[in-house]
Amino acid sequence: MTMATTRLDVATPEAMAELGAQLAGLLRAGDLVLLSGPLGAGKTTLVRGMGAAMGVRGAVTSPTYVIARVHPSLVGGPALVHVDAYRLQGLAELDDLDLDADLDSCVTVVEWGTGVAEALAETRLEVRITRSGTGETRGVELITHGDAWADRADALGAAAGVAT
Ligand SMILES: Nc1ncnc2c1ncn2[C@@H]1O[C@H](COP(=O)(O)OP(=O)(O)OP(=O)(O)O)[C@@H](O)[C@H]1O
Ligand SMILES: [Mg+2]
Repeated sequence: MTMATTRLDVATPEAMAELGAQLAGLLRAGDLVLLSGPLGAGKTTLVRGMGAAMGVRGAVTSPTYVIARVHPSLVGGPALVHVDAYRLQGLAELDDLDLDADLDSCVTVVEWGTGVAEALAETRLEVRITRSGTGETRGVELITHGDAWADRADALGAAAGVAT
């Protein structure tokens, strides 16, 4: 199983959304993206950029009472399933949510809290966001797991480059 890491600095919220947009260009139906980082790190900002680039319906927000929201594609692509997992015990629970969507045909993006690393899907893109100091700059690590990402390694590096 392959694993590769790309690191970059993201200076502004706009650049974080742009990184999301760039990553969206690489995503395929059935993909799982896991975002980790502290409160206010920029996880939802990144997902907002993904949603815009994927041409999905509805605003990507951080709803207080909604664990997962399905954003159907308006352009014939995969839907975006946005999960806020602070109250989710594990990915197995995702199945129990009874989403009106087949995850194999969607791109699923999960926001986790810092340091949450449970038994996860074998194939996934992990995005770890860190804040250092008081400025706006965020550190971002993109970590791919699984052979399904092997042929996208170069494209991932390029996507990171655009957003830097
Ligand atoms: N470089 C940056 N990247 C992303 N967001 C930034 C950056 N600099 C400042 N911000 C601000 O930080 C906030 C990030 O909020 P966001 O909701 O995206 O974080 P989050 O990680 O989803 O938080 P939560 O843990 O509450 O879900 C926004 O107000 C955004 O404008
Ligand atoms: Mg959020």
